[in-house]
Amino acid sequence: MLNFNFKNPTSIHFGEGQIQAISTEIPLNARVLLVYGGGSIKSNGVYQQVTDALKEHTWFEFSGIEPNPSYDTLMKAQDIIKAENIDYLLAVGGGSVVDGVKFIAAAALYQGDANNEDGSGESDPWDILAKQQPVTKALPIGAVLTLPATGSESNGNSVVTRDGTKLSFSSNLVRPLFAVLDPTVTLTLSDRQIGNGVVDAFIHIIEQYLTYSVNGKVQDRFSEGLLQTLIEEGPKALAADTKDDLEVRANIMWSATMALNGLIGAGVPQDWSTHIIGHELTGAFGIDHARTLSIVLPALMKVRREQKREKLLQYASRVWQVTEGDDDTRIDQAIRLTEEFFEKMQVPTRLSDIDLGSKDIDLLVERLEQHGMTALGEQGDISLAISREILTQAL
Ligand code: NZQ
Ligand code: ZN
Repeated sequence: MLNFNFKNPTSIHFGEGQIQAISTEIPLNARVLLVYGGGSIKSNGVYQQVTDALKEHTWFEFSGIEPNPSYDTLMKAQDIIKAENIDYLLAVGGGSVVDGVKFIAAAALYQGDANNEDGSGESDPWDILAKQQPVTKALPIGAVLTLPATGSESNGNSVVTRDGTKLSFSSNLVRPLFAVLDPTVTLTLSDRQIGNGVVDAFIHIIEQYLTYSVNGKVQDRFSEGLLQTLIEEGPKALAADTKDDLEVRANIMWSATMALNGLIGAGVPQDWSTHIIGHELTGAFGIDHARTLSIVLPALMKVRREQKREKLLQYASRVWQVTEGDDDTRIDQAIRLTEEFFEKMQVPTRLSDIDLGSKDIDLLVERLEQHGMTALGEQGDISLAISREILTQAL
């Protein structure tokens, strides 16, 4: 096992009725900005529950954060933060809102790079993403999660888009102090968002599991348990007779949080190339995040089968109970079963499923190069040529 430091201080309030916990989690003297997306929280009663819980607080609101939150929208929140002396941010929504709030929190207190190119010391918060300028201060954040998928509610990551470029930053200073996970609020999700969420969480686990073995038994077995939970419960959330089952929703919600709260990734190598290639598909063509991953991952498994051979065999036997046949047959079957699971979750597994073809691969590879994504994967050995091979395999 590799050395690691692990600390996850996000306090989790899980279950029905837990939104009221925000009334005591947020200090009474705070000036709170409630931040949300396009309005789903207004039609499903979450906004009402949140504002009821905030009735003793001084609060303001900022809405309109779009899926794949845009830098321009997020920067608009700075006006109200300054005008109203906001000192606490409450994100209510899916990963986009939570990620967006993280950037808002860091941008609000960003002091810039005194050593920037023109020596002016001017601060442009975009540098947090584009130049990976360290975050040294951020407003405190709480989150009410409405879409289980990203794990953003208890991690320090944020992904922001500007002019088709999707970049991320990470800082413990933007990790939510608390998160409310009430599975009942996920009942209003569309099938598309449920499918996306389950597949995103599944691939977060894969990115931290399907690398090479360092004998991290705890991490491996946690990961395998989470993968199996999503394989079992995911399809139930789409089936007519079980889609409103709260136990199904609860298991999916907790799996998605556990998939990317730092626990299973501590002390093991991590890949993330599926995500990095996928981000270009979202940036260039606006494809939903999870749907980029379900297209890239099976192709990546095929192209990287030698480098990932040992873990692919472990995945085949422990996650899918595939034990018959020679090594290559078992790996093929595990990849096929992964694709079938994605199909059950109603997400695409090929570029052709989303009407993209070989002519589009040049642009994606060009973008990877522009963004410096030329040495990906757990060994840093996925070059642009290999990314091209993966995309070609995904046709
Ligand atoms: O905007 P509203 O009206 O709220 O509608 C949203 C949005 O249209 C809707 N929705 C959310 N909760 C709902 C609901 N509709 C009905 N009922 C509910 N309870 O769902 C739509 C999609 O929401 P979004 O937040 O975009 O989805 P998701 O949670 O999948 O987040 C995706 C974003 O997270 C980033 C992705 O890149 C993408 O930008 N990621 C963040 C990560 C992280 N912070 O660690 C890791 C991930 O790999 C991912 O990259
Ligand atoms: Zn993801």
